[in-house]
Amino acid sequence: MMPSPQTNRREFLTRDATAAAVATLTAVVGAAEPLKVRVGVIGCGSVSHQYLPHLAKCPYVELVSTCDIRPERAKAQAERFGIPHHYPHVKQMLAGAAFDLLVNLTDMQEHEHLNRQAIEAGKHVWSEKPMANSLQAGQELVAAARKKGVRIWGAPAMVVSPQFAFMAKVVASGKLGKLAAAHAEYGHTGPDWAAFFYEKGGGSLPDLAVYNLTTLTGVLGPAKAVTAMTSVLTPTRKIRGKGEIKVVAEDNAMVLMDHSNGLLSHVQSGFNYFNPHGHDGSKEQRHTISIYGTSGYLGLVGYDWDPHGVDLATRSEPVLKRHATDKGNFVWQMGASLAAESLATGKDLLITPEHALHVLEIIQATNESQATGRRVPLRSTFKWPVIA
Ligand SMILES: NC(=O)c1ccc[n+]([C@@H]2O[C@H](COP(=O)([O-])OP(=O)(O)OC[C@H]3O[C@@H](n4cnc5c(N)ncnc54)[C@H](O)[C@@H]3O)[C@@H](O)[C@H]2O)c1
Repeated sequence: MMPSPQTNRREFLTRDATAAAVATLTAVVGAAEPLKVRVGVIGCGSVSHQYLPHLAKCPYVELVSTCDIRPERAKAQAERFGIPHHYPHVKQMLAGAAFDLLVNLTDMQEHEHLNRQAIEAGKHVWSEKPMANSLQAGQELVAAARKKGVRIWGAPAMVVSPQFAFMAKVVASGKLGKLAAAHAEYGHTGPDWAAFFYEKGGGSLPDLAVYNLTTLTGVLGPAKAVTAMTSVLTPTRKIRGKGEIKVVAEDNAMVLMDHSNGLLSHVQSGFNYFNPHGHDGSKEQRHTISIYGTSGYLGLVGYDWDPHGVDLATRSEPVLKRHATDKGNFVWQMGASLAAESLATGKDLLITPEHALHVLEIIQATNESQATGRRVPLRSTFKWPVIA
């Protein structure tokens, strides 16, 4: 059925978010102005300072509300970005000014229950990583969203970068020969602004390795099994405004993945890596990701969340040559804006909840492998290749 031009926007966005229906609505209203998705942002800490400027500039977004259990933060961000409503609790936010998409930027352990409440209230969700605290809970969220007719996506967003596309295309072209191995790494000396990074459900895996795990599985394909070791290298940390805390979650991780057909990969992450550039990826010039085949080598220059190019050498062109040096409009904090664009235009995203949940299972399996000393088979998968 064709929606009438009077179709209520919210009713439409929550009732049926399929690409075809959205495209039809856009065509019917024939708007010169893009359809705007009303956005509520929960969690107004560090990362909100990266997301909000991007959302504020996005033509598909109308920022409606902020929320934080530290109400002064919700108020400050609302004032800074001219957002009309701010709330101290998710229940007040969900019952307050109407919005379509929840952007969840809270502590890692809080995402699951907040995402669930938002879905139950008929909101679409963009969640910072992880989407949930376990694969099973994440799968239940995806099923609940489907039932409710809303969408859920989880960070990170690197599969939309031109450098990811270049790596995926080179791998698909067969230029590297038979793929043998890959290595990826990401670390720094750890956040000092919040304790949740070091508490149960935190750690360097869901905060840092998650990027490399997403990129490697995205380029090489889903993993079939994991063998891993983790440790706590620094048993206590000083957190700003909180003093000394005990570190419970790993702060040092080594993950081995079997992608089948003999292809093995390795990801290392940690909160104890001295890096002269600290958290700033802009000056990182090393290959943080290396992919080896029988007739070629790929090296990603810089981090996958702030990539500067891809170096490629093959048997026929054995001198390393730099490619894909243009980032276009890619920045790692663009995921929520892309989710809003997808809802407004019906354009599909390369970022999928199934991929995010596969990475979550790898993290879960890593902790299981450390606890049991065993190789852990994986059961989840996602649509691959990511780039056809
Ligand atoms: N900080 C970064 O540079 C960065 C980069 C990428 C991703 N992330 C991810 O973003 C998320 C947030 O990290 P952060 O560094 O901004 O942490 P943060 O501690 O600076 O901010 C989190 C905010 O969420 C609020 N909060 C917690 N529980 C809440 C709840 N139930 N309801 C409402 N508000 C709640 C806290 O009060 C805090 O203000 C994490 O998943 C992290 O992995 C952070």
